[in-house]
Amino acid sequence: IIDNEKNLTWHEMDVTKELRERQLSQKAFTVWMTGLSGSGKSTLANALEKRLFTLGKHTMLLDGDNIRMGLNKNLGFNEGDRVENIRRIAEVAKLMNDAGLIVITSFISPYSQDRQSAKEIIGDDFVEVYVSTPLDECERRDVKGLYKEARKGNIRSFTGISSPYEIPETPDVEIDTSGKKIEDCVNTIIDKLKKYIEE
Ligand code: PPS
Repeated sequence: IIDNEKNLTWHEMDVTKELRERQLSQKAFTVWMTGLSGSGKSTLANALEKRLFTLGKHTMLLDGDNIRMGLNKNLGFNEGDRVENIRRIAEVAKLMNDAGLIVITSFISPYSQDRQSAKEIIGDDFVEVYVSTPLDECERRDVKGLYKEARKGNIRSFTGISSPYEIPETPDVEIDTSGKKIEDCVNTIIDKLKKYIEE
């Protein structure tokens, strides 16, 4: 392991985050969604981004499966890889916030410590959304058929079955999507974003 920090110097650049935000006429922040597979994170993240986009905002959505097919294709689902997955996502979200963008992330992010680290990397403008749809509902939906496979023992370390999900203690928003309309869930989140966006 190379201790990079010893030989590096941070450069302050002239075009700052604040200037980029002003150019885009918006305040940058990250909405961090966390919850079980099948809880509705991606659907909600997609609907939230569409709403923000319609409001004229400059946005970017980082979603579990998609990022794992590119940037994080070398990572699996053991604890160490999940930690690295979330660390990279947090760093990317921070870069995008620095570029002035509103970022929505949609990852299981099962460990409290990693969500805390993500918050430390990203900073104050971090809104944690816990998609709290219960395991039995996620398993009933089984959109990708993964729970069935996990129950059969065909998927190692499957979150909620054979790998832990640590429930957020103080999320900014909690949404159980069972039996709810997606647009109502989006409204609940938008209400919590009032300090960042004027509709
Ligand atoms: S994590 O825990 O935050 O690193 O996971 P994430 O990057 O969000 O990836 C979750 C998606 O990967 C698929 N998948 C698994 N999930 C959990 N456990 C195991 N073992 C696993 N293997 C594959 C699954 O499609 C998850 O997608 P979502 O959108 O959450 O259903």
